[in-house]
Amino acid sequence: MKKYLFALIMAVLPVTAMASGGEAPLDHIEVDLENQASLQRGMATFVNRCMGCHSADYQRYERAANDLGMPPELVQEYMIFGDKKVGEQMTIAMSKDDAANWFGNPPPDLSLEARLRGPDWIYTYLRSFYQDPSRPWGVNNVVFKDVGMPNVLQDLQGVQINNCTPEELAHHHANAEIDPLTGARMSECLTVVDGTGKLSKEEFDQTIYDLTNFLTYMGEPYRLDSERLGIKVLIFLAIFFVFAYALKKEYWKDVH
Ligand code: HEC
Repeated sequence: MKKYLFALIMAVLPVTAMASGGEAPLDHIEVDLENQASLQRGMATFVNRCMGCHSADYQRYERAANDLGMPPELVQEYMIFGDKKVGEQMTIAMSKDDAANWFGNPPPDLSLEARLRGPDWIYTYLRSFYQDPSRPWGVNNVVFKDVGMPNVLQDLQGVQINNCTPEELAHHHANAEIDPLTGARMSECLTVVDGTGKLSKEEFDQTIYDLTNFLTYMGEPYRLDSERLGIKVLIFLAIFFVFAYALKKEYWKDVH
C-alpha cells in the first residue's frame, strides 16, 4: 500500500524544475501566452539571434504565425532567412559534428527546452553570462557552469562581471537586485560594467522575458488551444446545467 502511495506522490509532483540542479536560485517570471506582442517579439529575437546555432525542429513557422496572430506572408518575408518556405519546420543547416568541434558541445534543439529546464531557468540563464577570461569565449554562466555557448547578446546587455564567490552565488539571486517585498538590495553579484550595451537593464530584461515567453509557447503550442477550448467547455457546462436541473425538477415533482 505504501508503495502505491509513494508512486502516486511521485506521479503528481511537478517535474519541470528538477533539471535545474543545485545552482544559484532562479529569478521568477510569470509567462503569459496570451500576450501576442511579447510572443511576436520573442520569435523575432529567436530567429535573428539564436537560429544561427539552435534549431526548433518540432516547430513550423506557419503554425507559429497562426498561433501568434501574424500573417504567414510577413513571417515568410521577415523571419525566414534562406530559401525555406513558411510551411516548413524551423531547422538549421549547421551540422552537429561541426558544432561539437567548435563549441565543445553542440547547441541543442530548443523546441522543448522550456519543458526541460522551465521558464525561470531560461530567463535566469540568458541574463547570467559574466566575464571569465579563463573560458574559451571569455564568459561563464551562473546557472550553467563552464557553458560552451558564447554570450551572444552581449552587444545588447554590455559586459557583465560577477563579484561573488561560487559559495556566495549559491545563496544569492544573481540578477534580482531588489527584493520585491522589502525593497532591499539582495545582491550585487552581477553588474554590467561598461556602457556598450544597446539596451537599458529594463529593456534587456524585457527582451529576455519575451524570448523566454516564446520558448515556453514552443514547448506547448497546443496549450493556447486547450485554454481557449477549456473556456468554451465551461460555458457549455454552465448552460447545460440549467437544462439538467429543470429536467430533474420535472422528473421528481410527483415523487414524494
Ligand atoms: C554561436 C552559437 C550559439 C548561438 C547564436 C546561441 N547559442 Fe545557445 N548554446 C550554444 C551552445 C554551443 C550551447 C551548449 C552549451 C553547453 O552544453 O556547454 C548552447 C546552449 C544553450 C542553452 C542551454 C541548453 C541546455 O543544455 O539545456 C540554451 C537555453 C540556449 N543555448 C539558448 C539560446 C538562445 C535563447 C539563443 C538566442 C538568444 C542562443 N542560445 C544562441 C550556442 C549558441
